[in-house]
Amino acid sequence: MASRKSTKIASDTASGAPSRLATALRTATCGELTAANTGAKVTLTGWVAHRRDHGELIFIDLRDRYGLTQVVFDAQANAPAHAIASEARLEYVLRVEGVVRRRLPGKENPALPTGEIEIEVEKVEMLNSAKTTPFPIADHVSAAEELRLRYRYLDIRRDTMRKNIELRHRAVKLIRDFMDERSFLEVETPILTKSTPEGARDYLVPSRLYPGEFYALPQAPQQFKQLLMVAGIDRYFQIARCFRDEDLRSDRQPEFTQLDVEMSFVAEQDVMGLIEELLIHLIQKTTSKRIQQVPFPHISFADAMETYGIDRPDLRFGLPLRTLPVELARQGSFKVFHDALEKGGMVKGLRVPGQASATRKELDALTEFAKTLGAKGLVTLALLPEGPRSPLARFMSETELAAVLRHMEAVEGDLVLFVADSEKVCNDVLWRLRVRMGEQLGLIDPDVMSLCWVVDFPLLELIEEDGKQRYHATHNPFSGMRAGEEPLLDTDPLKVTARQYDIICNGYEVGGGSVRINIPELQRKVFKLLGLSEEQIAEQFGHILEAFEYGAPPHGGIALGIDRLVMLLADGETIRDVTAFPKMQNGQDALMRAPSPVTEEQLRELSLAVRIEEKEKK
Ligand code: AMO
Ligand code: AMP
Repeated sequence: MASRKSTKIASDTASGAPSRLATALRTATCGELTAANTGAKVTLTGWVAHRRDHGELIFIDLRDRYGLTQVVFDAQANAPAHAIASEARLEYVLRVEGVVRRRLPGKENPALPTGEIEIEVEKVEMLNSAKTTPFPIADHVSAAEELRLRYRYLDIRRDTMRKNIELRHRAVKLIRDFMDERSFLEVETPILTKSTPEGARDYLVPSRLYPGEFYALPQAPQQFKQLLMVAGIDRYFQIARCFRDEDLRSDRQPEFTQLDVEMSFVAEQDVMGLIEELLIHLIQKTTSKRIQQVPFPHISFADAMETYGIDRPDLRFGLPLRTLPVELARQGSFKVFHDALEKGGMVKGLRVPGQASATRKELDALTEFAKTLGAKGLVTLALLPEGPRSPLARFMSETELAAVLRHMEAVEGDLVLFVADSEKVCNDVLWRLRVRMGEQLGLIDPDVMSLCWVVDFPLLELIEEDGKQRYHATHNPFSGMRAGEEPLLDTDPLKVTARQYDIICNGYEVGGGSVRINIPELQRKVFKLLGLSEEQIAEQFGHILEAFEYGAPPHGGIALGIDRLVMLLADGETIRDVTAFPKMQNGQDALMRAPSPVTEEQLRELSLAVRIEEKEKK
């Protein structure tokens, strides 16, 4: 397209091509001009990023998404342009026409792609002014997150956020291409739908046409993707928005995005193999990070809990946990240990190499940390050259203590930490202590991506609800079970192994899925074990049970948390860093100010009335 001014650049650029990004108002972007364009007449548009006023000479760095270009306003050479530049302030929007020239020798900026050149202004137009921004746009100046979210459109002008948005775009594009090349079809599923249980509370949407009835926003497209398998779409995927009303954390948003996948006629290794290939591809194409181990190691749920205290272990460093066998914990007269065992609990420890010289203060800080996590205390044992220093030493003989240390594989110079409590408390406390020590000792290489599969989860767990115990699906109620274990549903349901797999990266659960149940009777049996009545099953899941009567193929799938994945690729600290417009930790949208009250009229149309209990009033 030989259009007006861009032709001028075309003849001058090294590649000979006109800027692909030329528009009606500009011929080039602020990130593309180099010495090869010297002499070209160009028009740039952008925001004032810096302004240096030397009186006769004003330098403005004009910024757009693509970069920065220095523009020179010389009062002698062009008084009207210089007058406008005098008035321009940070973040004003300018349109600058001028000629590309080389900077004076010694004035180049090698840190900028455009650092060799500047624009000698011929004409400048102020397209818009700007108020003083609530925080500097410069990336290195920190700003409170609440302010950044309130003015997210300014935050996104900053380098880090813009780069994260670019990375997210690239990652999703790579995913779509990857899936497309393997014959997957992307299918959109409804947002206004019926409750789909993934373990969180639903967001409800009142129906105007059916007073008193509600749609639910999907927690995941789980049932739709299984219905698509019955429909014969044997390879489905979707970049799917999911909604879960739960307490927020750094890696949890009430709405988030999944790469949702389902496949027919597959076993575990088909889904896992595909995802492994995809993750390697993504990491290699978007980062320079090293993948710790390929193929990704598999760890059973039981081993993960025993060795790392959590089902999403960070394998970038060692520091395995170890349970003290009962006969060792029972030695001597240490009441703390004995009490824990008596109550059906355990003693579990963490060996920290080379930390025997930790000070009293450091040990107290660790104990305090353990207590905030629910421990009653922390037994510390420092293996000093003069012998072990520990509260334990007063209650065990030298030989008894030596047996404990042998079991922990502790050597001189090590620090060993023990928690005595229920298995749950031991694990909750120790997995966090392990991560804290890993960080503190600098054992974590930030350039490593450590991925693993956690497998062999129990299908069911016992949870307490309203003082009563009941079965709960560890993942979702659709997961299949290991062949031959079906009879255990009647005799010992907690022993049933799910055909479930979770993919873990650097201690984050980035995805999970399973090979599903496709036999209606079996699915019905699981619903019943979960405590649903016949009526509830019919009301909530009748549609999927009915569909299974029409030739449901064997199928399985997975969903990856795109936000978490991109956060890890971007070295972000929270998924808010890679979400353009996230909610704050308190669930509010700081920019749009949602949630917010609605009018009486809107409520009337929906046949709703609002009643706020006194204690819930803000
Ligand atoms: P699951 O509930 O494990 O599985 O979700 C899959 C992945 O989604 C991400 N994720 C979240 N990310 C941000 N904010 C949240 N609130 C949030 N909740 C979950 C996690 C998680 O691993 N239908 C099943 C998948 C299947 O079986 O195919 C499901 O949704 O990275
Ligand atoms: P006490 O007998 O309560 O003075 O505790 C003796 C030591 O054991 C202290 O260092 C406590 O921090 C620690 N301790 C107490 N209870 C526990 C527990 N349940 N697990 C681990 N350490 C504990």
